[in-house]
Amino acid sequence: MIQLIRGFKDILPEEAGLWQEIERIAADLFEDFGYREIRIPIMERTELFARSIGEDTDIVEKEMYTFPDRKGDLITLRPEATASIVRSYIQHKMYAADPVRKFYMTGPMFRRERPQKGRYRQFYQIDAEIFGVASPYADAELIYLLDTLFRRLGVDDVAAHINSLGCPACRPGFKSALLDYMADRMETLCVDCKRRSERNPLRALDCKVPDCRDAMADAPSILDHLCADCRDHFDTVKTALTDLGVPFEVDKRLVRGLDYYTRTTFEILTGSLGAQSAVAGGGRYDGLIEMLGGPSLPATGFAIGFDRLVEIVGMKAEDYQRAPKLFIAALGPHSQARAFGWSCALGTAGIQADMDFEGRSLKSQMKRADRSGAEYVLIVGEKELAEGGAVLRNMATKEQETISLRDLAAEIKKRLSLHP
Ligand code: HAM
Repeated sequence: MIQLIRGFKDILPEEAGLWQEIERIAADLFEDFGYREIRIPIMERTELFARSIGEDTDIVEKEMYTFPDRKGDLITLRPEATASIVRSYIQHKMYAADPVRKFYMTGPMFRRERPQKGRYRQFYQIDAEIFGVASPYADAELIYLLDTLFRRLGVDDVAAHINSLGCPACRPGFKSALLDYMADRMETLCVDCKRRSERNPLRALDCKVPDCRDAMADAPSILDHLCADCRDHFDTVKTALTDLGVPFEVDKRLVRGLDYYTRTTFEILTGSLGAQSAVAGGGRYDGLIEMLGGPSLPATGFAIGFDRLVEIVGMKAEDYQRAPKLFIAALGPHSQARAFGWSCALGTAGIQADMDFEGRSLKSQMKRADRSGAEYVLIVGEKELAEGGAVLRNMATKEQETISLRDLAAEIKKRLSLHP
């Protein structure tokens, strides 16, 4: 038998109802805040991701699904959505009428990481972005939205960690202070940190290798190196979150795994998922639109790991599985023909009605009705058809009554509205 690719997974119908509900709740919230859905392709030119995420990141160095298409052009299955949304914004000149745009999207992303609980090679993100707003209130709005969404979904055991990564004016000063600190400890750092130290020393701050963690324990803090503008920006984000009642922790080691960030960065961490503790991450990326060939405009955003979110919501998948309202147990060819007409009419009216097409015995049809979770079962044989009435059984209470077959949809609707 052909099996799934390692790190990929199926979302079965039993779980898909919960996924749909979460997506609906998120979309409603985003729409209420003026975000609009954007749908972007699953593949892009490799260059788009290499340039925006950064050549020295784990994602670009070793995790992208990149291959030549039949003409030899290098294409990549998207590892994230931000770069594509920026590409689309520039390509369609969406900034021309009004540079301020808010987007959201949901969909699969691909990273060839080592699979484990909460880490997949195809995973899903719920993504939101604000383009054209430099104000720290845009960052605060995004963190507020995450907090609000997680509350609506009954998620507890999460904490928002925030940091500032400075800007092109102040980051170089921090980088050289960090490099000075690392120079004395270079031999204790892992090969990745050593190799990246020149171009990307910030990554060493959140390296998970124990020796690196020890070596970096007393590293200088970026927050001590922020320029006045970056400090004001960060202070306003913190004050706005405090005023909104959003709890957060300042985490000076939070550096994120993508290179495009400037100023505010944040992650939502949970204690419920073992090693994969980040349920969402994001931040400001004021240089990316221009770097990809667009005008010089600021931007900020986040992505939620949908697969991880599903694991920690306070909702149960079984509460979002739809069951038929009615199962029609039809006995005999004429009853079956009529039952088929009724089930189509009921389905069209928004009332899910199932039946058995195989002409099985009453006993086996009742077994199937029970397994389907139907609220009511209608038992119709040739005799009932001739008499114009049939037995309707309430599966929960086991009560039975005879109902008229003349306007079956109305009869069923009446009972469903009595017990919605
Ligand atoms: P990211 O931190 O790489 O950011 O990913 C965001 C979230 O996606 C993570 O916090 C995690 O929950 C989930 N995630 C990442 N990799 C995996 C995986 N292999 N399996 C399961 N879940 C995963 C971004 O992607 C940025 N584009 C976020 C952003 C938007 N920044 C600004 N705008």
